[in-house]
Amino acid sequence: DSEIQCLKEEIVSLKAEHNAIILAHNYQRPEIYDIADRIGDSLELSLAACDARAECIIFCGVDFMAETAKILSPDANVYLPAEEAHCPMARMVSESDIFSLKEQYPDADVVSYVNTSASTKALSDICCTSANAIEIVRSCASDQVIFLPDQNLASYVQRFSDKLIIPGRGNCCVHDRITPIMVDNMRAFHRKAPFIAHPECRPEVINIADAVCSTSGMIAYCQDHPAEAFIIGTENGMIERLKRDIPEKRFYAVGGICTPMKLTTLDAVKDSLLSGAGEVTLEKSLIDTARGPLERMLQISG
Ligand code: 13P
Ligand code: SF4
Repeated sequence: DSEIQCLKEEIVSLKAEHNAIILAHNYQRPEIYDIADRIGDSLELSLAACDARAECIIFCGVDFMAETAKILSPDANVYLPAEEAHCPMARMVSESDIFSLKEQYPDADVVSYVNTSASTKALSDICCTSANAIEIVRSCASDQVIFLPDQNLASYVQRFSDKLIIPGRGNCCVHDRITPIMVDNMRAFHRKAPFIAHPECRPEVINIADAVCSTSGMIAYCQDHPAEAFIIGTENGMIERLKRDIPEKRFYAVGGICTPMKLTTLDAVKDSLLSGAGEVTLEKSLIDTARGPLERMLQISG
């Protein structure tokens, strides 16, 4: 324990030395929360990256998040300490998928979830996150929207929109595995606990949810709701975040573990600060084309 404490202190002083900030997604391990300047959902962390005056951003999360930070803060050195932390969903759409959808629906706007590669963003009109997807689709001029790559999020957004939403063919393996039976089983033990689902869950899970929120949206919901216990339908690391912010309430998980999200360790963070391991590099032309769709999103819901 004292070894971990020493490591955390070392990281905090290296941070100051390198004028660095550490951004951590809600799904990160609790020891990573302790050294982070910001803990948040994808939208909050994109905004934090955009506002950062730091020379160096250490991103504790997965690849697309660190890439987004680099696109929004191109002059900063951005590091992904867990170099192998790839979100599988971000790879579920290819450039040729986008070209063929655009050919089929030439009048459609292309909305890409922030969980995509920089090259997918560069081919999109606007990006969105789970916190603002409904608002972003509403803001599109066309009444047809190609929504990439998450089918479940597309189907969730369709509930609130009269537009024709053409979904991609991706999903998140962690959220897509949650079933209504898992929720019902948990409800049998915790009858008064509201069930909160992430919009990456399947439609049949969304149908039985008391609320549907982004990860940080879940914190606000549980803070404001009078219930003492909640069933949480997202990646299980969220339970740690909720317990940290709302220690007086109880949280029960029906999700699974996102392995890439757990690859970030204190040692890896120290390594990035010391030796520059995991630096994110993107071609300038790609940064410039991918920035437009992200900035359009932040103008609408910043
Ligand atoms: P949010 O934190 O933006 O809700 O996204 C969840 C997620 O799956 C990130 O990979
Ligand atoms: Fe990707 Fe799902 Fe993991 Fe989020 S939880 S990083 S969408 S695999």
